Amino acid sequence: MSYSIALNFEDGVSRFIECNEGETVLDAAYRQKVNLPMDCSDGVCGTCKGHCEQGDFDLGDEYLEEALSEEERHEGQVLTCQMVPSSDCVIQVPVASTMCKTEVGKRTATVSAVAPLSDDSIELAIDIEGDALGFLPGQYVHLEVPGAGAHRSYSFSSLPGDSRASFLIRNVPGGLMSGYLGDTAKPGDQIAVTGPMGSFYLRAIQRPILMLAGGTGLAPFLSMLKQLSEAGCDQPIHMIYGVTKDDHLVKCEELDAARDAIADFDYVTVVADEDSAHPRKGYVTHHMDDGKLHDGDVDVYLCGPPPMVDAVLKHFDSQGIKPASFHYEKFTPN
Ligand code: FES
Repeated sequence: MSYSIALNFEDGVSRFIECNEGETVLDAAYRQKVNLPMDCSDGVCGTCKGHCEQGDFDLGDEYLEEALSEEERHEGQVLTCQMVPSSDCVIQVPVASTMCKTEVGKRTATVSAVAPLSDDSIELAIDIEGDALGFLPGQYVHLEVPGAGAHRSYSFSSLPGDSRASFLIRNVPGGLMSGYLGDTAKPGDQIAVTGPMGSFYLRAIQRPILMLAGGTGLAPFLSMLKQLSEAGCDQPIHMIYGVTKDDHLVKCEELDAARDAIADFDYVTVVADEDSAHPRKGYVTHHMDDGKLHDGDVDVYLCGPPPMVDAVLKHFDSQGIKPASFHYEKFTPN
C-alpha cells in the first residue's frame, strides 16, 4: 500500500511522490530524489516544517514542542520527518523546488485529437508518455508550441491519472498556439509538456463551493468536477459559467454529466452579448444569488480572463462579501 503525496513548492512547482505504508514523507521524498529541508530528521529542529492541506497522517508524539507547537499543529503544520501518511496528502513546502534539488517535470506527449468546439475554443487531447502525470485538479502545465520555440500555459480539463490529457484552448486570432492548432496540428505531433504547476486547485471540501468560470476558464472546473464525480461530495456546489456569445458555451454535456453524478451540484450559464436570447444575460456578477454565498461560509473558486476576475473581486469588495476562502486564476489569452 502506498499513498500519493503532492509536494507544492513555493515557486508554484508541484512534485508527486509515492509514500509507502509506515514511511515518513521526508524519507519517501529522499528516496525519490527530492531533498526536502531537514537538519535533525528527529523532530527536534523544525527545519522540515510544512503545511498539510489535505489528507490523513500520524505525527506521533516523539517530536519537541520547540520544533512544532500545539498551535502550529492545530493550524495544519507538520514535520515531514515525523509525518506518516495514511491517505493521499497535499503538502505545501515553504521553499522553492530548486532548493530541494528537484525541478518541474518534463515529459513528451503526442497529439491525439484537435477539435474546434466553437469559434472561441479548441479542445486539444494529448497522450503523455510514461506513467500518468500526477496533478491536482485545477493545475496547469506549459505546452510547447511545436516549431515556435515557445510555450503556453493551459489548465487540464481531464482527470488526474488519465493517460490522455485534455485542454480547452482559447482561439485567439494570430495567437501562437491557436495558429498551430488551426493550421498545422495533426495527430502524432510531438509536444513537450512541463509541469504540473499552480496554486489554483481543489482543496479539501469542508463547506459549500461556488465556482465561477469565464470562457475557457471552464477547463480547470471540468477536471475538478470529474474528480468530485468519482470521489463524491456531501456539500452543495454551484457554478456560474459565463461566456461572451451564445455559441461560446461548450462542454455543457460534461456539466450535465457532473450534475447527474454529484448529489448537490448545479450550474447556470450566462451570456454577455446584448443581442443574445439567452435567459440570463450579462456577467457572472449579475447572477450571483445571495443564497449561493451561504452568508460567507463558502469556498469560492474563480477562473477567467483578467477583466472578469477583476470584476468579481470588485463586486465582492463593494458588497462586503468575504468568503471563507477565495482561490482564483487569471488566464491571459495568447
Ligand atoms: Fe528536524 Fe524534522 S528535520 S524536526
